[in-house]
Amino acid sequence: MAGQAARRRTFAVISHPDAGKSTLTEALALHARAIGEAGAVHGKAGRNATVSDWMAIERQRGISISSTALQFAYRDAVINLLDTPGHADFSEDTYRVLTAVDCAVMLLDAAKGLEPQTLKLFEVCRHRRVPVITFINKWDRPGHEPLALLDEIERRIGLKCTPLTWPVGIAGQFHGVVDRRTGGMVRFERSPGGATAAIEEHLAPAGAAERFGPDWHRAVEELDLLTLTGADHDEAAFNAATTTPVLFGAAVANAGVRQLLDVLVEHAPPPRPRPDTDGQARAIDAPFSGFVFKIQANMNPSHRDQIAFVRVCSGRFERGMVVTHATTGRPFATKYAQQVFGRDRETLDEAYPGDVVGLVNATALAIGDTLHAGPVVSYPPLPSFAPEHFAVLRATDSSKFKRFRRGIEQLDAEGIVQVLRSNARGDQAPVLAAVGPMQFEVATYRLTVEFGVPTELEHLPYRMARRTDPAGRDTLQTERGVEVLTRDRDNALLALVLDKWRLRALVSEYPRLVLEPLLADA
Ligand code: G4P
Repeated sequence: MAGQAARRRTFAVISHPDAGKSTLTEALALHARAIGEAGAVHGKAGRNATVSDWMAIERQRGISISSTALQFAYRDAVINLLDTPGHADFSEDTYRVLTAVDCAVMLLDAAKGLEPQTLKLFEVCRHRRVPVITFINKWDRPGHEPLALLDEIERRIGLKCTPLTWPVGIAGQFHGVVDRRTGGMVRFERSPGGATAAIEEHLAPAGAAERFGPDWHRAVEELDLLTLTGADHDEAAFNAATTTPVLFGAAVANAGVRQLLDVLVEHAPPPRPRPDTDGQARAIDAPFSGFVFKIQANMNPSHRDQIAFVRVCSGRFERGMVVTHATTGRPFATKYAQQVFGRDRETLDEAYPGDVVGLVNATALAIGDTLHAGPVVSYPPLPSFAPEHFAVLRATDSSKFKRFRRGIEQLDAEGIVQVLRSNARGDQAPVLAAVGPMQFEVATYRLTVEFGVPTELEHLPYRMARRTDPAGRDTLQTERGVEVLTRDRDNALLALVLDKWRLRALVSEYPRLVLEPLLADA
Protein backbone atom coordinates (compact mmCIF):
# COMPACT_ATOMS: atom_id res chain seq x y z
CA MET A 1 0.00 0.00 0.00
CA ALA A 2 2.63 2.51 1.09
CA GLY A 3 4.71 1.51 -1.93
CA GLN A 4 1.81 2.18 -4.30
CA ALA A 5 1.19 5.59 -2.76
CA ALA A 6 4.88 6.48 -3.00
CA ARG A 7 4.76 5.83 -6.77
CA ARG A 8 2.01 8.40 -7.32
CA ARG A 9 2.64 11.90 -8.65
CA THR A 10 -0.53 13.95 -8.80
CA PHE A 11 -0.25 17.39 -10.35
CA ALA A 12 -1.96 20.07 -12.42
CA VAL A 13 -0.61 22.58 -14.92
CA ILE A 14 -1.26 26.22 -14.11
CA SER A 15 -0.92 28.72 -16.91
CA HIS A 16 -2.46 31.63 -18.75
CA PRO A 17 -4.56 30.71 -21.80
CA ASP A 18 -2.40 30.08 -24.87
CA ALA A 19 0.80 29.35 -22.96
CA GLY A 20 0.55 25.78 -24.28
CA LYS A 21 -1.18 23.76 -21.57
CA SER A 22 -3.12 21.54 -23.98
CA THR A 23 -0.01 21.03 -26.08
CA LEU A 24 2.05 20.13 -23.02
CA THR A 25 -0.64 17.75 -21.73
CA GLU A 26 -0.64 16.03 -25.06
CA ALA A 27 3.16 15.85 -25.14
CA LEU A 28 3.33 14.43 -21.60
CA ALA A 29 0.81 11.73 -22.37
CA LEU A 30 2.57 10.98 -25.62
CA HIS A 31 5.87 10.47 -23.87
CA ALA A 32 4.23 8.14 -21.47
CA ARG A 33 2.59 6.36 -24.40
CA ALA A 34 -0.87 6.84 -22.95
CA ILE A 35 -2.07 7.83 -26.37
CA GLY A 36 -0.86 6.81 -29.77
CA GLU A 37 -0.52 10.02 -31.69
CA ALA A 38 -0.49 13.71 -31.13
CA GLY A 39 -3.91 15.30 -31.49
CA ALA A 40 -5.77 12.81 -29.34
CA VAL A 41 -5.77 15.02 -26.28
CA HIS A 42 -5.41 18.44 -27.77
CA GLY A 43 -8.42 19.80 -29.58
CA LYS A 44 -8.90 23.42 -30.31
CA ALA A 45 -11.58 24.74 -32.60
CA GLY A 46 -11.32 23.14 -35.99
CA ARG A 47 -9.16 20.29 -34.84
CA ASN A 48 -10.01 16.77 -33.86
CA ALA A 49 -12.19 16.25 -30.84
CA THR A 50 -10.11 15.44 -27.85
CA VAL A 51 -10.19 13.39 -24.73
CA SER A 52 -9.97 16.32 -22.37
CA ASP A 53 -12.22 18.66 -24.36
CA TRP A 54 -15.55 16.95 -24.45
CA MET A 55 -18.21 19.52 -24.19
CA ALA A 56 -19.56 21.01 -27.39
CA ILE A 57 -19.34 24.51 -26.00
CA GLU A 58 -15.68 23.96 -25.31
CA ARG A 59 -15.06 22.84 -28.83
CA GLN A 60 -16.96 25.78 -30.25
CA ARG A 61 -15.01 28.28 -28.28
CA GLY A 62 -11.75 26.41 -28.24
CA ILE A 63 -11.42 26.54 -24.49
CA SER A 64 -11.29 23.93 -21.84
CA ILE A 65 -13.97 24.42 -19.21
CA SER A 66 -14.23 21.08 -17.54
CA SER A 67 -11.57 19.17 -15.74
CA THR A 68 -10.68 15.59 -16.26
CA ALA A 69 -7.96 13.38 -14.96
CA LEU A 70 -5.36 11.72 -17.09
CA GLN A 71 -3.45 8.79 -15.61
CA PHE A 72 -0.39 7.21 -17.12
CA ALA A 73 2.63 5.18 -16.11
CA TYR A 74 6.10 6.62 -16.55
CA ARG A 75 9.25 4.80 -15.42
CA ASP A 76 8.17 3.21 -12.16
CA ALA A 77 5.73 6.00 -11.30
CA VAL A 78 2.03 6.47 -11.84
CA ILE A 79 1.31 10.02 -12.96
CA ASN A 80 -2.06 11.66 -12.42
CA LEU A 81 -2.48 14.86 -14.38
CA LEU A 82 -5.59 16.77 -13.39
CA ASP A 83 -6.80 19.15 -16.05
CA THR A 84 -7.79 22.64 -15.00
CA PRO A 85 -10.09 24.97 -16.92
CA GLY A 86 -8.14 27.50 -18.90
CA HIS A 87 -10.58 30.37 -18.70
CA ALA A 88 -10.35 32.86 -15.83
CA ASP A 89 -14.13 32.75 -15.31
CA PHE A 90 -13.72 29.21 -14.06
CA SER A 91 -11.13 30.00 -11.44
CA GLU A 92 -13.32 28.53 -8.71
CA ASP A 93 -13.33 25.21 -10.50
CA THR A 94 -9.57 25.43 -10.91
CA TYR A 95 -9.20 26.18 -7.23
CA ARG A 96 -11.02 22.96 -6.36
CA VAL A 97 -8.77 20.97 -8.66
CA LEU A 98 -5.74 22.51 -6.99
CA THR A 99 -6.96 21.22 -3.62
CA ALA A 100 -6.62 17.72 -5.07
CA VAL A 101 -2.99 17.88 -6.30
CA ASP A 102 0.35 17.41 -4.57
CA CYS A 103 2.35 19.55 -6.96
CA ALA A 104 1.82 22.05 -9.80
CA VAL A 105 3.65 22.77 -13.03
CA MET A 106 3.67 26.49 -13.75
CA LEU A 107 3.82 26.88 -17.51
CA LEU A 108 5.10 30.16 -18.93
CA ASP A 109 5.34 31.41 -22.48
CA ALA A 110 8.98 32.47 -22.97
CA ALA A 111 7.86 35.62 -24.76
CA LYS A 112 5.30 36.63 -22.15
CA GLY A 113 6.62 35.61 -18.77
CA LEU A 114 4.17 35.77 -15.88
CA GLU A 115 0.64 36.57 -17.08
CA PRO A 116 -2.45 37.48 -15.01
CA GLN A 117 -4.11 34.07 -14.87
CA THR A 118 -0.80 32.39 -14.01
CA LEU A 119 -0.33 34.82 -11.15
CA LYS A 120 -3.83 34.15 -9.81
CA LEU A 121 -3.37 30.41 -9.91
CA PHE A 122 0.07 30.67 -8.41
CA GLU A 123 -1.47 32.53 -5.46
CA VAL A 124 -3.74 29.54 -4.89
CA CYS A 125 -0.71 27.24 -4.88
CA ARG A 126 1.12 29.54 -2.50
CA HIS A 127 -1.88 29.65 -0.19
CA ARG A 128 -1.98 25.84 -0.10
CA ARG A 129 1.84 25.53 -0.06
CA VAL A 130 1.81 23.38 -3.15
CA PRO A 131 5.34 22.86 -4.53
CA VAL A 132 5.69 24.36 -8.02
CA ILE A 133 7.89 23.24 -10.92
CA THR A 134 8.33 25.90 -13.62
CA PHE A 135 8.39 25.01 -17.31
CA ILE A 136 9.32 27.81 -19.69
CA ASN A 137 7.68 26.96 -22.98
CA LYS A 138 7.94 28.04 -26.62
CA TRP A 139 11.71 28.33 -26.54
CA ASP A 140 11.66 27.59 -30.25
CA ARG A 141 10.33 31.12 -30.77
CA PRO A 142 11.84 34.51 -29.95
CA GLY A 143 11.31 35.40 -26.32
CA HIS A 144 12.91 36.93 -23.25
CA GLU A 145 16.41 36.17 -21.95
CA PRO A 146 16.39 33.20 -19.56
CA LEU A 147 17.99 35.20 -16.74
CA ALA A 148 15.39 37.95 -17.17
CA LEU A 149 12.59 35.37 -16.86
CA LEU A 150 14.07 34.00 -13.63
CA ASP A 151 14.45 37.52 -12.35
CA GLU A 152 10.78 38.25 -13.10
CA ILE A 153 9.66 35.15 -11.19
CA GLU A 154 11.79 36.00 -8.17
CA ARG A 155 10.81 39.65 -8.15
CA ARG A 156 7.08 39.29 -8.72
CA ILE A 157 6.19 36.16 -6.80
CA GLY A 158 9.17 35.75 -4.51
CA LEU A 159 9.90 32.20 -5.58
CA LYS A 160 13.62 31.44 -5.82
CA CYS A 161 14.45 29.74 -9.12
CA THR A 162 16.72 26.72 -9.17
CA PRO A 163 17.03 25.68 -12.83
CA LEU A 164 17.60 22.01 -13.54
CA THR A 165 18.13 22.56 -17.25
CA TRP A 166 19.41 25.60 -19.10
CA PRO A 167 18.82 26.50 -22.75
CA VAL A 168 21.61 26.37 -25.29
CA GLY A 169 20.78 29.03 -27.86
CA ILE A 170 18.60 32.07 -27.30
CA ALA A 171 14.81 31.82 -27.54
CA GLY A 172 14.05 31.24 -31.20
CA GLN A 173 17.31 29.39 -31.83
CA PHE A 174 16.92 26.48 -29.53
CA HIS A 175 19.47 23.71 -29.86
CA GLY A 176 18.87 21.92 -26.59
CA VAL A 177 19.53 22.20 -22.89
CA VAL A 178 22.37 21.74 -20.46
CA ASP A 179 21.41 19.10 -17.94
CA ARG A 180 22.75 20.69 -14.78
CA ARG A 181 23.09 17.37 -13.02
CA THR A 182 25.42 15.85 -15.59
CA GLY A 183 26.88 19.03 -17.04
CA GLY A 184 26.30 17.57 -20.51
CA MET A 185 23.97 18.73 -23.24
CA VAL A 186 20.75 17.22 -24.51
CA ARG A 187 20.23 18.26 -28.10
CA PHE A 188 16.67 18.19 -29.42
CA GLU A 189 15.74 17.44 -32.94
CA ARG A 190 12.22 18.24 -33.92
CA SER A 191 10.37 15.23 -35.18
CA PRO A 192 8.07 15.83 -38.15
CA GLY A 193 4.79 17.37 -37.02
CA GLY A 194 5.68 16.79 -33.39
CA ALA A 195 3.88 13.47 -33.72
CA THR A 196 6.37 11.42 -31.77
CA ALA A 197 8.72 12.18 -28.90
CA ALA A 198 11.54 14.58 -29.79
CA ILE A 199 14.74 12.92 -30.91
CA GLU A 200 17.42 13.51 -28.30
CA GLU A 201 21.15 13.39 -28.63
CA HIS A 202 23.34 13.45 -25.52
CA LEU A 203 26.61 15.33 -25.85
CA ALA A 204 29.49 15.59 -23.40
CA PRO A 205 30.62 19.18 -22.64
CA ALA A 206 33.59 19.00 -25.05
CA GLY A 207 31.39 17.77 -27.89
CA ALA A 208 28.76 20.42 -27.16
CA ALA A 209 31.42 23.15 -27.12
CA GLU A 210 32.69 21.99 -30.49
CA ARG A 211 29.22 21.91 -32.10
CA PHE A 212 27.61 24.95 -30.52
CA GLY A 213 30.64 27.14 -29.67
CA PRO A 214 29.34 30.58 -28.57
CA ASP A 215 25.86 29.37 -27.58
CA TRP A 216 27.31 26.62 -25.43
CA HIS A 217 29.85 28.93 -23.77
CA ARG A 218 27.19 31.50 -23.04
CA ALA A 219 24.96 28.86 -21.42
CA VAL A 220 27.87 27.65 -19.28
CA GLU A 221 28.71 31.20 -18.20
CA GLU A 222 25.12 31.89 -17.22
CA LEU A 223 25.03 28.66 -15.26
CA ASP A 224 28.25 29.60 -13.44
CA LEU A 225 26.55 32.82 -12.45
CA LEU A 226 23.56 30.89 -11.12
CA THR A 227 25.81 28.54 -9.15
CA LEU A 228 27.52 31.58 -7.59
CA THR A 229 24.15 32.91 -6.42
CA GLY A 230 23.26 29.55 -4.87
CA ALA A 231 20.48 28.80 -7.36
CA ASP A 232 20.83 25.05 -6.87
CA HIS A 233 17.97 22.64 -6.42
CA ASP A 234 17.20 22.02 -2.78
CA GLU A 235 14.64 19.30 -2.17
CA ALA A 236 13.52 20.61 1.22
CA ALA A 237 13.07 24.18 0.00
CA PHE A 238 11.16 22.97 -3.08
CA ASN A 239 8.87 20.84 -0.89
CA ALA A 240 8.31 23.83 1.36
CA ALA A 241 7.30 25.78 -1.78
CA THR A 242 9.98 28.43 -1.37
CA THR A 243 12.01 27.48 -4.45
CA THR A 244 11.01 26.28 -7.89
CA PRO A 245 13.02 24.03 -10.20
CA VAL A 246 12.96 25.53 -13.69
CA LEU A 247 13.07 23.71 -17.03
CA PHE A 248 13.12 25.03 -20.58
CA GLY A 249 11.46 23.49 -23.61
CA ALA A 250 9.04 23.63 -26.49
CA ALA A 251 5.98 21.53 -25.91
CA VAL A 252 4.97 21.72 -29.55
CA ALA A 253 8.19 19.92 -30.51
CA ASN A 254 8.12 17.69 -27.40
CA ALA A 255 11.44 19.27 -26.47
CA GLY A 256 12.19 19.21 -22.75
CA VAL A 257 9.09 17.20 -21.98
CA ARG A 258 10.92 14.03 -20.99
CA GLN A 259 13.05 16.11 -18.62
CA LEU A 260 9.88 17.45 -17.02
CA LEU A 261 8.54 13.94 -16.50
CA ASP A 262 11.86 12.90 -14.97
CA VAL A 263 11.76 15.83 -12.57
CA LEU A 264 8.20 14.91 -11.59
CA VAL A 265 9.25 11.34 -10.87
CA GLU A 266 12.50 12.21 -9.11
CA HIS A 267 11.56 15.33 -7.18
CA ALA A 268 7.82 15.96 -6.99
CA PRO A 269 6.29 14.87 -3.69
CA PRO A 270 4.16 11.73 -3.46
CA PRO A 271 0.80 12.04 -1.64
CA ARG A 272 1.22 13.27 1.91
CA PRO A 273 -1.08 12.69 4.89
CA ARG A 274 -3.99 15.11 4.57
CA PRO A 275 -5.15 17.07 7.59
CA ASP A 276 -8.82 16.59 8.47
CA THR A 277 -11.25 19.22 9.77
CA ASP A 278 -9.61 19.03 13.20
CA GLY A 279 -6.15 19.44 11.75
CA GLN A 280 -5.22 15.79 12.42
CA ALA A 281 -3.42 14.19 9.49
CA ARG A 282 -4.82 10.84 8.39
CA ALA A 283 -1.92 8.48 7.61
CA ILE A 284 -1.54 7.45 3.98
CA ASP A 285 -1.83 3.77 4.95
CA ALA A 286 -4.94 4.29 7.11
CA PRO A 287 -8.14 2.78 5.67
CA PHE A 288 -9.56 4.37 2.51
CA SER A 289 -10.59 8.00 2.55
CA GLY A 290 -11.05 10.67 -0.08
CA PHE A 291 -12.98 13.81 -0.90
CA VAL A 292 -15.11 14.97 -3.83
CA PHE A 293 -13.39 17.83 -5.66
CA LYS A 294 -15.55 17.91 -8.74
CA ILE A 295 -18.99 16.90 -9.93
CA GLN A 296 -19.91 16.67 -13.55
CA ALA A 297 -23.12 15.61 -15.23
CA ASN A 298 -23.87 14.43 -18.73
CA MET A 299 -20.25 14.14 -19.72
CA ASN A 300 -21.19 11.86 -22.50
CA PRO A 301 -24.55 12.24 -24.24
CA SER A 302 -24.85 8.46 -24.43
CA HIS A 303 -24.38 8.14 -20.65
CA ARG A 304 -26.71 10.65 -19.07
CA ASP A 305 -25.43 10.55 -15.56
CA GLN A 306 -23.54 12.37 -12.89
CA ILE A 307 -19.96 11.64 -11.93
CA ALA A 308 -18.36 12.65 -8.65
CA PHE A 309 -14.58 12.83 -8.86
CA VAL A 310 -12.91 11.71 -5.66
CA ARG A 311 -9.27 12.27 -4.82
CA VAL A 312 -8.03 9.33 -2.76
CA CYS A 313 -6.21 10.56 0.35
CA SER A 314 -5.52 7.35 2.27
CA GLY A 315 -5.77 3.62 1.90
CA ARG A 316 -6.65 1.36 -0.97
CA PHE A 317 -9.86 1.91 -2.87
CA GLU A 318 -11.46 -1.19 -4.28
CA ARG A 319 -14.42 -1.07 -6.61
CA GLY A 320 -17.51 -2.44 -4.93
CA MET A 321 -16.41 -1.57 -1.42
CA VAL A 322 -19.07 0.05 0.71
CA VAL A 323 -17.79 3.26 2.26
CA THR A 324 -19.31 5.87 4.53
CA HIS A 325 -20.48 9.25 3.29
CA ALA A 326 -19.18 11.43 6.14
CA THR A 327 -21.76 14.22 5.69
CA THR A 328 -24.77 11.93 6.21
CA GLY A 329 -23.16 8.93 7.94
CA ARG A 330 -24.86 6.75 5.32
CA PRO A 331 -23.23 3.84 3.51
CA PHE A 332 -22.24 4.47 -0.09
CA ALA A 333 -21.73 1.61 -2.56
CA THR A 334 -18.96 2.07 -5.10
CA LYS A 335 -20.00 -0.49 -7.66
CA TYR A 336 -19.71 1.96 -10.53
CA ALA A 337 -16.23 3.30 -10.09
CA GLN A 338 -14.54 4.51 -13.22
CA GLN A 339 -11.44 6.08 -14.49
CA VAL A 340 -12.46 8.95 -16.68
CA PHE A 341 -10.21 9.95 -19.51
CA GLY A 342 -12.03 12.71 -21.32
CA ARG A 343 -14.83 11.03 -23.20
CA ASP A 344 -13.59 7.56 -22.52
CA ARG A 345 -14.25 5.68 -19.38
CA GLU A 346 -12.82 2.51 -18.06
CA THR A 347 -13.95 0.53 -15.11
CA LEU A 348 -11.56 1.11 -12.28
CA ASP A 349 -10.92 -1.75 -9.90
CA GLU A 350 -8.55 -0.22 -7.43
CA ALA A 351 -6.96 3.09 -6.62
CA TYR A 352 -4.37 4.45 -4.20
CA PRO A 353 -3.65 7.79 -2.57
CA GLY A 354 -3.15 10.42 -5.25
CA ASP A 355 -5.49 8.71 -7.73
CA VAL A 356 -8.82 10.06 -8.91
CA VAL A 357 -11.87 7.84 -8.86
CA GLY A 358 -14.96 8.77 -10.87
CA LEU A 359 -18.10 7.57 -9.09
CA VAL A 360 -21.01 7.27 -11.46
CA ASN A 361 -24.55 8.24 -10.47
CA ALA A 362 -23.32 9.56 -7.18
CA THR A 363 -26.17 12.02 -6.81
CA ALA A 364 -25.97 11.95 -3.01
CA LEU A 365 -22.49 13.44 -3.08
CA ALA A 366 -21.69 17.15 -3.08
CA ILE A 367 -18.45 18.99 -3.74
CA GLY A 368 -16.20 18.83 -0.69
CA ASP A 369 -17.83 15.70 0.78
CA THR A 370 -15.65 13.04 2.39
CA LEU A 371 -15.97 9.30 1.83
CA HIS A 372 -14.17 6.85 4.07
CA ALA A 373 -13.82 3.30 5.26
CA GLY A 374 -12.71 2.42 8.81
CA PRO A 375 -12.38 5.20 11.40
CA VAL A 376 -14.42 8.33 10.72
CA VAL A 377 -12.68 11.21 8.98
CA SER A 378 -13.94 14.44 7.50
CA TYR A 379 -11.80 16.69 5.31
CA PRO A 380 -12.27 20.46 5.37
CA PRO A 381 -14.98 21.84 3.05
CA LEU A 382 -13.87 23.43 -0.21
CA PRO A 383 -14.52 27.17 -0.11
CA SER A 384 -16.62 28.96 -2.71
CA PHE A 385 -15.34 32.15 -4.27
CA ALA A 386 -17.01 35.49 -3.87
CA PRO A 387 -19.30 35.95 -6.88
CA GLU A 388 -19.08 39.21 -8.79
CA HIS A 389 -21.78 38.72 -11.43
CA PHE A 390 -25.48 38.19 -10.83
CA ALA A 391 -28.42 37.49 -13.09
CA VAL A 392 -32.03 36.40 -12.77
CA LEU A 393 -32.82 33.24 -14.71
CA ARG A 394 -36.29 32.32 -16.01
CA ALA A 395 -37.57 29.46 -18.11
CA THR A 396 -39.15 30.97 -21.21
CA ASP A 397 -41.65 28.10 -21.31
CA SER A 398 -43.39 27.87 -17.94
CA SER A 399 -44.65 24.33 -18.65
CA LYS A 400 -41.05 23.15 -18.31
CA PHE A 401 -40.67 24.39 -14.77
CA LYS A 402 -40.00 20.97 -13.26
CA ARG A 403 -37.12 20.35 -15.62
CA PHE A 404 -35.91 23.88 -15.08
CA ARG A 405 -35.75 23.21 -11.34
CA ARG A 406 -33.91 19.92 -11.82
CA GLY A 407 -31.42 21.57 -14.16
CA ILE A 408 -30.73 24.38 -11.69
CA GLU A 409 -30.14 21.88 -8.90
CA GLN A 410 -27.70 20.03 -11.11
CA LEU A 411 -25.74 23.16 -12.04
CA ASP A 412 -25.60 24.12 -8.38
CA ALA A 413 -24.37 20.65 -7.37
CA GLU A 414 -21.61 20.90 -9.94
CA GLY A 415 -20.65 24.34 -8.72
CA ILE A 416 -21.16 25.80 -12.24
CA VAL A 417 -23.06 28.70 -10.65
CA GLN A 418 -24.28 29.53 -7.17
CA VAL A 419 -28.06 29.67 -6.85
CA LEU A 420 -29.68 32.36 -4.69
CA ARG A 421 -33.32 32.83 -3.85
CA SER A 422 -35.61 35.19 -1.99
CA ASN A 423 -39.32 35.29 -1.25
CA ALA A 424 -39.57 38.54 -3.13
CA ARG A 425 -38.24 37.00 -6.35
CA GLY A 426 -40.01 33.67 -5.97
CA ASP A 427 -39.10 30.14 -6.97
CA GLN A 428 -39.54 30.70 -10.70
CA ALA A 429 -36.84 33.33 -10.88
CA PRO A 430 -33.73 32.31 -8.98
CA VAL A 431 -30.66 34.54 -9.09
CA LEU A 432 -27.51 32.96 -10.43
CA ALA A 433 -24.21 34.16 -9.00
CA ALA A 434 -20.91 33.66 -10.77
CA VAL A 435 -17.25 34.55 -10.50
CA GLY A 436 -17.13 35.21 -14.24
CA PRO A 437 -19.86 35.80 -16.83
CA MET A 438 -18.94 32.78 -18.91
CA GLN A 439 -20.40 30.62 -16.16
CA PHE A 440 -23.83 32.00 -17.13
CA GLU A 441 -23.20 31.08 -20.71
CA VAL A 442 -22.39 27.50 -19.76
CA ALA A 443 -25.39 27.33 -17.42
CA THR A 444 -27.92 28.49 -20.02
CA TYR A 445 -26.33 26.37 -22.74
CA ARG A 446 -26.52 23.26 -20.62
CA LEU A 447 -30.10 23.95 -19.56
CA THR A 448 -31.08 24.15 -23.22
CA VAL A 449 -29.05 21.22 -24.50
CA GLU A 450 -29.18 18.78 -21.60
CA PHE A 451 -32.49 19.62 -20.00
CA GLY A 452 -34.41 20.96 -22.99
CA VAL A 453 -35.28 24.18 -21.17
CA PRO A 454 -34.72 27.46 -23.02
CA THR A 455 -34.14 30.27 -20.55
CA GLU A 456 -33.68 34.00 -20.45
CA LEU A 457 -31.17 35.82 -18.36
CA GLU A 458 -31.62 39.28 -16.87
CA HIS A 459 -28.34 40.72 -15.65
CA LEU A 460 -28.44 42.49 -12.30
CA PRO A 461 -26.28 45.53 -11.58
CA TYR A 462 -24.72 44.18 -8.35
CA ARG A 463 -20.97 43.63 -8.32
CA MET A 464 -20.25 42.24 -4.87
CA ALA A 465 -21.63 39.90 -2.26
CA ARG A 466 -21.26 40.03 1.51
CA ARG A 467 -22.44 37.53 4.10
CA THR A 468 -25.08 38.91 6.47
CA ASP A 469 -27.52 37.59 9.09
CA PRO A 470 -31.32 37.74 9.63
CA ALA A 471 -31.02 41.11 11.39
CA GLY A 472 -29.02 42.41 8.44
CA ARG A 473 -31.64 41.14 6.02
CA ASP A 474 -34.36 43.01 7.89
CA THR A 475 -32.34 46.21 8.05
CA LEU A 476 -31.37 46.14 4.39
CA GLN A 477 -34.84 45.33 3.10
CA THR A 478 -35.75 48.95 2.49
CA GLU A 479 -32.32 50.12 1.29
CA ARG A 480 -31.62 50.74 -2.37
CA GLY A 481 -28.61 49.32 -4.20
CA VAL A 482 -28.64 46.18 -2.07
CA GLU A 483 -30.67 42.96 -2.01
CA VAL A 484 -30.47 39.99 0.38
CA LEU A 485 -30.94 36.43 -0.87
CA THR A 486 -30.38 32.94 0.52
CA ARG A 487 -27.80 30.69 -1.11
CA ASP A 488 -29.24 27.20 -1.86
CA ARG A 489 -25.94 25.44 -1.23
CA ASP A 490 -25.52 26.35 2.44
CA ASN A 491 -28.46 28.61 3.34
CA ALA A 492 -26.05 31.51 3.78
CA LEU A 493 -27.65 34.95 3.61
CA LEU A 494 -25.87 37.01 0.99
CA ALA A 495 -26.27 40.74 0.56
CA LEU A 496 -25.69 41.72 -3.07
CA VAL A 497 -24.34 45.25 -3.26
CA LEU A 498 -24.04 47.59 -6.25
CA ASP A 499 -20.42 48.56 -5.73
CA LYS A 500 -17.84 49.40 -3.12
CA TRP A 501 -19.14 52.96 -2.68
CA ARG A 502 -22.61 51.70 -1.85
CA LEU A 503 -21.02 49.19 0.52
CA ARG A 504 -19.05 51.94 2.24
CA ALA A 505 -22.18 54.03 2.64
CA LEU A 506 -24.08 51.10 4.18
CA VAL A 507 -21.26 50.32 6.58
CA SER A 508 -21.07 53.92 7.76
CA GLU A 509 -24.84 54.17 8.10
CA TYR A 510 -25.18 50.86 9.97
CA PRO A 511 -21.88 50.25 11.77
CA ARG A 512 -23.24 47.20 13.59
CA LEU A 513 -24.50 45.47 10.49
CA VAL A 514 -22.94 42.08 9.67
CA LEU A 515 -21.40 42.41 6.19
CA GLU A 516 -18.54 39.93 6.01
CA PRO A 517 -16.46 39.42 2.91
CA LEU A 518 -16.64 35.99 1.28
CA LEU A 519 -13.48 34.18 0.26
CA ALA A 520 -11.77 36.55 -2.14
CA ASP A 521 -11.21 35.40 -5.65
CA ALA A 522 -7.79 33.83 -5.28
P1 G4P B 1 -3.48 26.50 -23.92
O1 G4P B 1 -4.03 25.12 -23.78
O2 G4P B 1 -2.57 26.89 -22.80
O3 G4P B 1 -4.49 27.55 -24.20
O4 G4P B 1 -2.52 26.53 -25.18
P2 G4P B 1 -2.37 25.55 -26.41
O5 G4P B 1 -1.71 24.30 -26.02
O6 G4P B 1 -3.63 25.46 -27.16
O7 G4P B 1 -1.33 26.39 -27.25
C1 G4P B 1 -1.61 27.70 -27.70
C2 G4P B 1 -0.85 27.96 -28.97
O8 G4P B 1 0.56 27.91 -28.70
C3 G4P B 1 -1.10 26.92 -30.04
O9 G4P B 1 -0.98 27.59 -31.27
C4 G4P B 1 0.08 25.98 -29.89
O10 G4P B 1 0.39 25.28 -31.06
C5 G4P B 1 1.19 26.95 -29.53
N1 G4P B 1 2.28 26.32 -28.79
C6 G4P B 1 2.22 25.51 -27.72
N2 G4P B 1 3.45 25.13 -27.34
C7 G4P B 1 4.31 25.71 -28.19
C8 G4P B 1 5.74 25.70 -28.33
O11 G4P B 1 6.46 25.06 -27.59
N3 G4P B 1 6.23 26.45 -29.33
C9 G4P B 1 5.47 27.16 -30.19
N4 G4P B 1 6.08 27.86 -31.14
N5 G4P B 1 4.13 27.19 -30.10
C10 G4P B 1 3.57 26.48 -29.13
P3 G4P B 1 -2.23 27.98 -32.14
O12 G4P B 1 -1.75 28.85 -33.22
O13 G4P B 1 -3.34 28.47 -31.26
O14 G4P B 1 -2.70 26.61 -32.69
P4 G4P B 1 -1.94 25.66 -33.70
O15 G4P B 1 -2.84 25.68 -34.88
O16 G4P B 1 -0.59 26.18 -33.94
O17 G4P B 1 -1.91 24.33 -33.03
